[in-house]
Amino acid sequence: MIAHDVVIIGGGLAGLRAAVGLAQRWDVAVLSTVHPLRSHSGAAQGGINAAIGNAPDGRDDTPEKHAFDTVKGSDYLADQSAVALMCQRAPEAVYELEHWGAAFSRFSDGRIAQRPFGGAGYPRACYAADRTGHILLNTLYGRALRSGVTFHDEWTVTRLAVADGRFHGLIAYDLRRGRFETIAAKVCLLATGGYGRVFRNSTNALINTGSGIGIALKAGMAVKDMEFIQFHPTTLFGSNILITEGARGEGGHLLNRQGERFMERTASRMMELAPRDIVARSIQTEIDEGRGFEGGHVLLDLRHLGSATIHQRLPAIRQICIDFAGIDPIDAPIPIQPGQHYSMGGIDTDVTGRTQVDNVYAAGECACVSVHGANRLGGNSLLDTVVFGRLVAEDINRRADELQDAPSESVLHDHWKLHCGRVDRLFSRPRGVTHNPLRDALRQVCSEKVGIFRREADLSEAVDAIRALRQQYQQVRCRSAVAPFHYEILHVLELEAQLDLAWITAAGALARQESRGSHSRRDFPARDDLRWLKHTVARLVEGELTLDYTGVDTSHYVPSERTY
Ligand code: FUM
Repeated sequence: MIAHDVVIIGGGLAGLRAAVGLAQRWDVAVLSTVHPLRSHSGAAQGGINAAIGNAPDGRDDTPEKHAFDTVKGSDYLADQSAVALMCQRAPEAVYELEHWGAAFSRFSDGRIAQRPFGGAGYPRACYAADRTGHILLNTLYGRALRSGVTFHDEWTVTRLAVADGRFHGLIAYDLRRGRFETIAAKVCLLATGGYGRVFRNSTNALINTGSGIGIALKAGMAVKDMEFIQFHPTTLFGSNILITEGARGEGGHLLNRQGERFMERTASRMMELAPRDIVARSIQTEIDEGRGFEGGHVLLDLRHLGSATIHQRLPAIRQICIDFAGIDPIDAPIPIQPGQHYSMGGIDTDVTGRTQVDNVYAAGECACVSVHGANRLGGNSLLDTVVFGRLVAEDINRRADELQDAPSESVLHDHWKLHCGRVDRLFSRPRGVTHNPLRDALRQVCSEKVGIFRREADLSEAVDAIRALRQQYQQVRCRSAVAPFHYEILHVLELEAQLDLAWITAAGALARQESRGSHSRRDFPARDDLRWLKHTVARLVEGELTLDYTGVDTSHYVPSERTY
């Protein structure tokens, strides 16, 4: 049996930042379904927010103003002390990355450059052209290697071994060797990212299935605010590849078929740089009301920025447009449509990343602290990963004395037996259904009925359809023989998590009879603080879903109407 002190599930930014903070004191292993440099953090393009006041028109920015923008952007659902903490920690997080070698773009005076981003009162997003996540991922991966962290690349965790509310280890599939392994550990950090691939049209990588959140649910943890799904306003029409908000930060215009800058109607002050929920709804409205282009898209026009700015600040966007749409944004506007991008909800944690199971932490997109509430501001997700990744490491280091007990081998053995039984059943069914049609049907339902605009009838249909798919899942079987890179078994196990997460998302959205942030109900168009200023907390107990509600920390700012 393999053993480590701390196992980190996920090789993205949250996991790597925690690993760097832990490696001096502990034997730390990172398990990652793909090579860590292929983690979805690398797809983040436009920037990481920190009130460092480097832009000429941003000199009087402060962490407090950053916190206010974040809370307002969240439609007042974020927990305000947690937001204040994240924003206070942001400048040191950015300087730390800079000192570790992150190649941020610079102003001509040599300071880290900052660009405007949606919902922000100041140019606050520090960036590395339009490859910010990629640069930070390389920085932290190098740092983790140097710190002596062990990497199990191409390993996927399929089960947490938890008994009496305490963690003892996990079971993971080693793709290259084609076998399941047990790993004993004292502490675990879930840093597995979001579950965007529950939707059909998503900017997310194929690995973003939500399997990490799924195994947390199975181990008894609660998830919070799962009905809040972010649809990024600008994804490339057809393929849904992210076209960074940085393109609008640099001055890009959104145009409908009549050539109008339609954001005038919904956000006359901030226009294209209103928060994402508002911009995505505005684009969808243009499309739905017939002012879009064929197939359902509008245009993002960068031509007036000029070739030099596009080459210097948006080189990857230009290349994506050339490679995947056959157009050069220097000469032609980009066809875009909204697409699923981020999950504000996730595993319920406190600000140190602790979950409800002893010695299991969660950080990054798979966690819900909550700092994003009902709508995340662009540039706050990279920030969330490095700030809370570090806070998790600090908490584990602080608890060194109480983390001495060895994991129980008998608990691990019991979980191994349960796991083997589950896998055997998938292979031994003589008849049954295959997983792909079920996954396709699930994505269809989520995209069509749990999308940008929601209504009761659609959400009820979605809940019923997902329950039916869960029933059909009981008959899923694996057909191919066991071998290295046995993706079928992984996909079958992941599908169970996807069905759970979609169910919770749709049921939470059906229950929430108001509109707030990204959750926009046609039948309840107003925000209702009296009844719904509360977090949704969901659990699966013996296969049944329970929804509870907890209060929101509004200790800094009184909720008020959002105008932009
Ligand atoms: O648009 C973007 O560059 C995405 C940034 C983010 O999601 O924070």
